[in-house]
Amino acid sequence: MPLALRFILPLLIVLAAFAYAVMPVVDKLTMRWFVRDLDVRATLIATTVQVPLEDELATRSAVRINDFLNRISRDERLFAVGYCPAPASRAVASRYFPAEIHCSDLSLWEGENGQLLDTPSGPLHVSVKPLITADAPDGRLVLVHDMSFFARRSEETRRYIFYFFIGLALSVSLITVIVAQFAWRGWVQGMRSLLQGAGHSRHNPVPPAKVVPEFKPIARDLQRLIRDLQSEYRARDESQLTWTPDTLRAILHSELRGENIIVVSNREPYIHERRGDAIEVQRPASGLVTALEPIMRACSGTWIAQGSGSADRAVVDGRDHVPVPPERPAYEIRRIWLSQEEEQGYYYGFANEGLWPLCHIAHVRPVFRSSDWNYYQEVNRRFAEAVVAESTTKDPIVLVQDYHFALLPRMIREALPEATIIAFWHIPWPNPEDFAICPWREEILTGMLGSSILGFHTQFHCNNFVDTVDRFLEARVDRESFTVTLGGKATAVRRYPISIAWPPDPAMVAVPVPRCREEIRRREGLPMETAIGFGVDRLDYTKGILERLRAIERLLELKPEWIGRFCFIQVAAPSRSSIDEYQHHEAEVRAQAAQINERFGGGGVPPIVLRIEHHEPEDVYRYYRAAELCFVSSLHDGMNLVAKEFIAARDDEQGVLILSQFTGAARELPEALIVNPYDIDQCAAALHLALTMPADEQRDRMRLMRGLVSEFNVYRWAGRMLLDAAIMRRRGRLLDKDGEQTAPATLPT
Ligand code: F6P
Repeated sequence: MPLALRFILPLLIVLAAFAYAVMPVVDKLTMRWFVRDLDVRATLIATTVQVPLEDELATRSAVRINDFLNRISRDERLFAVGYCPAPASRAVASRYFPAEIHCSDLSLWEGENGQLLDTPSGPLHVSVKPLITADAPDGRLVLVHDMSFFARRSEETRRYIFYFFIGLALSVSLITVIVAQFAWRGWVQGMRSLLQGAGHSRHNPVPPAKVVPEFKPIARDLQRLIRDLQSEYRARDESQLTWTPDTLRAILHSELRGENIIVVSNREPYIHERRGDAIEVQRPASGLVTALEPIMRACSGTWIAQGSGSADRAVVDGRDHVPVPPERPAYEIRRIWLSQEEEQGYYYGFANEGLWPLCHIAHVRPVFRSSDWNYYQEVNRRFAEAVVAESTTKDPIVLVQDYHFALLPRMIREALPEATIIAFWHIPWPNPEDFAICPWREEILTGMLGSSILGFHTQFHCNNFVDTVDRFLEARVDRESFTVTLGGKATAVRRYPISIAWPPDPAMVAVPVPRCREEIRRREGLPMETAIGFGVDRLDYTKGILERLRAIERLLELKPEWIGRFCFIQVAAPSRSSIDEYQHHEAEVRAQAAQINERFGGGGVPPIVLRIEHHEPEDVYRYYRAAELCFVSSLHDGMNLVAKEFIAARDDEQGVLILSQFTGAARELPEALIVNPYDIDQCAAALHLALTMPADEQRDRMRLMRGLVSEFNVYRWAGRMLLDAAIMRRRGRLLDKDGEQTAPATLPT
């Protein structure tokens, strides 16, 4: 049925029913008016005929009186007239005077407006009016009107009313259809334009038509829904993306445009050091810095970190800010100054003598002191205040880095309830039994659960964390969505394997591999044919440097043909040197290297070259490119970016990576030679295998590893977290709008 008919038909039916109901009312009303008019007319006639009738009555001639009355009743509507001189007499009447009316019972017909009389010839109206003469003081004139013309009129009125309603129905329908047509067109146009508006973006520069004001609330909801769908689609489709700085920038632009992004870490990405009269800028040996620096360049936020360089204070402005990178500023560092006591208690003490050995299975006992814990809380609070001061909105995105700031997420959450806090734990998370050692385990867990998203490198560490919460806190743990809810606020626990920039900075791989090989051998005083192994780490007991040296010694024991032909260069950046454990470790490493060199270095080629000093990344890359193999033997490591840097450095697709099974990286890089660093014989065998591996096999393995690192690069690491943050913010806003603030804004798993 056409749309118009679907509307008109019901309208017609409604109006017809209405007309049907209205007609009896109209009938009743017109009847009342009509009767009243007839009675008035009767009074008028009675008054008019009074005198002539008196004259006729005076003649006492029945013929004349009848004749007179017949004449009066010739009037179109007057049916009959009668005269009663007295109640006991017989009426003198015109023709057709109804037999039902008698002079004796005239009182029956004397109503206020007369009475109705139904006769076989039709309805009549009877009025009785006094007509008093000298001879007949009780005389009455009876006027009988014909009512059939009322029936005719009533019929006519009904017809008119019926036609009127039909006409009305048709006109209303017509007008409605026309208006509806226009409105529909406008609505469709409005919808179209608002949908265009929703799709209007950088990629779709067509400006949307004007949205009708009434549609604006719908438009907003629709646009939000479409954006949600787009971004979820993008998130799902993200495995198809090639992650580059541009992709990251585009995501920041489209998903988090104008959002206030703040990074917090202990280590700063650029350290200003005084060298004589000059100020030098150093980049610390930190995987965290390596990963976050390209992101900050892409999003131009603020990075809050401890000011640790000797010239750091000299270069900041009045608000302790310094723009970096120095050669081409893209973002700002906000430096926090710590007293010696604060640094000792918070950084060396609680973070590095307590949490660091607690989280790494390296068989070094954690030390927990109450005084360190107090400083740790105090410094976390100072950083929280800095975050609040640096926030330009009430809901910034704050990226909290590492074990130095376990309490910070909750502190920020309390000051900025609407902030999106992404905390990333760069080191392993132990199992609940190991974590139980910490005297402030509940406080640490509660602090971390102030985050919106809590990231670890591996699913294994996520599982350990969730198990730990389950064991020690009264929190709701949802293992399906991997969400922990504490105090009504949910934290999504997610795996984001960190990585390095890809493609690597061209400056790092600018010097061709053969030149790097030559240069490094010359620099180290080694014959050109010497096979080189390379290791680079912070000088930390978790890195398994001693185990590495033992494996080299074992290689030379088992395969003496490598004596004088193989040299292992170990670069070790001094780290946390004021901690006893680190000092002992350094002493042990030095002693072990010396002992091996003494034992096997007679032929002029030292088996070990130990460089305990800071090296700039460009220099480290030359070693990577010059070496036959790179050995990463961490006893326990969240990820280990050295492994990925070595792969990035080898654009010649040569070189072998020996990788500890206890690193996060080992889960992503099975093409490396995976070893147990505690198994010295196995490591020695892996060294020999690497040194004798055919070029083809090296290429095959390296290709696969380069493929993985190029795809799972640091832009993806950051992009995934930021995308998740964006989804969470949008969901949170929708829930807020619907008044469901208590519901957690969850993420797709
Ligand atoms: O591995 C954990 C970590 O925080 C890294 O993210 C970083 O590279 C390293 O420790 C830096 O240590 P520090 O800042 O104590 O020298």
